[in-house]
Amino acid sequence: MSSFSESDLPVKPIPGGYGIPFFGAIADRYDYYYNQGRDKFFASRIQKHRSTVFRTNMAPGPFNASDPRVICLLDAVSFPILFDTSKVEKRDVFTGTYMPSTTFTGGYRVCAYLDPSELKHTLIKRFFFSILSTRHDQVIPLLRSHLSELFIKLEDKVSQKGEASFNTISDNELFNFVFRLYCGKHPTETNLGSKGPTLFELWVYPQVAPLGSLGLPGWLLPINLVEDFFLHTLPFPAWTLKWDHKKLYDSIYNSATEALDEAERIGISREEACNNLLFVLGFNTYGGVKIVIPTIMKWVGLAGVGLHKQLAEEIRSVVKEEGGVTFGALDKMTLTKSVVWEAMRIEPPVQFQYAKAKEDLVIHNHDTAFKVKKGEMLFGYQPFATKDPKIFENPEEFVGNRFVGEGEKLLNYVYWSNGRETENPKEEDKQCPGKNLVEVMCRVFLVDFFLRFDTFTVEIGKPALGPTVTIKSLNKASSSL
Ligand code: HEM
Repeated sequence: MSSFSESDLPVKPIPGGYGIPFFGAIADRYDYYYNQGRDKFFASRIQKHRSTVFRTNMAPGPFNASDPRVICLLDAVSFPILFDTSKVEKRDVFTGTYMPSTTFTGGYRVCAYLDPSELKHTLIKRFFFSILSTRHDQVIPLLRSHLSELFIKLEDKVSQKGEASFNTISDNELFNFVFRLYCGKHPTETNLGSKGPTLFELWVYPQVAPLGSLGLPGWLLPINLVEDFFLHTLPFPAWTLKWDHKKLYDSIYNSATEALDEAERIGISREEACNNLLFVLGFNTYGGVKIVIPTIMKWVGLAGVGLHKQLAEEIRSVVKEEGGVTFGALDKMTLTKSVVWEAMRIEPPVQFQYAKAKEDLVIHNHDTAFKVKKGEMLFGYQPFATKDPKIFENPEEFVGNRFVGEGEKLLNYVYWSNGRETENPKEEDKQCPGKNLVEVMCRVFLVDFFLRFDTFTVEIGKPALGPTVTIKSLNKASSSL
């Protein structure tokens, strides 16, 4: 039976279902991790239900998540309901249908888990905006000094060994940059020594472990059963990493004194602000750039020498005209900006977004409207939304200049920051406050790369958290400024 919605689209019941309690969730989990894999899991259900909106259970399910039932949104039109905090609640859904123990965050629910209706959300987000604005002028010079180290190491490795693992070198240098930006000290000057990246990773991975898998084939069932039991069934005993959290906490507490003073002025205790800063530094920023920068290297590397030449030309001529790498210069680089957005579109760094309906709602995709009941969980798998063939031509193809000129209109459908690319984050929404910083970082990365090099080739490994990139060759710039 279908009636008509306000948008004149026919209202139909949401197809799909959850199966028998517990067993349905386990069956969907096995399809998702082992029998089908992530993309096939979603694509096969779109085909089966002839709809980009349907009901299913989402991993991890029992016993990590108390309720795995979701309504999946897999197109560019239904997805943005997740951004509308007047209609949906974002309380404790940052990691999805389960939430890691607050023991990881000193007993606090940090900003990413707060709904904008909670006063703390506004205060903490204000704190982040303040940190970012006071560091605005340091970003470009500080980042460039770390990129210089990064590229020297990369070049040395390629000339000695004939190839270089990009991720390790880039992770270390970008971590140093991020720590210095927020805390004002090099991490080696703190109790972390040179172990900062490892100690942060040790703290981040268990929080997202229920979402991951080694990705072994379905026929290796005995190994998969063991993995499924340890990763997806039981919550990680967070207390075993209390020592690690303490070490990270102390490093920030003792170095980010200026930022913590500012938090107190805003009305947040030092302890709560420090736990929030720890999360933003280690999870949001380091965890994010660890994925984003290799993703850019992957797609630009695979695009080949034609795009490299165009990027080098644009970057070198604008830097010459503007007399340096400035915010103004970055803004003039239309191709460079488009390449960054295209990488974020084709492989969004954070792929899952969740929200609960605050009230009975009508949502719609391209051709149908659906009724959602208050309290139901909405779930968007972003790569399907930003590769919606009804919006993007050749959605599976990396088109470097997709967002140049008229193409800029399509930025309305780029969602990597948990909001439209055409909008900016605010205290009262859930859009990523690091949106501008991340994009500046990506642009400066490309600028410095193509000021130094003409072209490069890559080999892409099996993705873990983001792609693994090996640089196979690196050609130094033949023309300078
Ligand atoms: C590096 C790449 C980054 C990516 C891909 C990324 C992505 C995201 C996404 C998708 C969300 C929304 C999650 C959700 O609620 O479903 C988010 C939220 C958030 N991000 Fe980022 N982010 C990045 C960097 C940063 C940086 C540099 C900061 C520094 C301030 C930051 C701070 C936050 C915070 C505090 C939230 C929660 C926002 C709120 O509660 O209103 N992120 N980010």
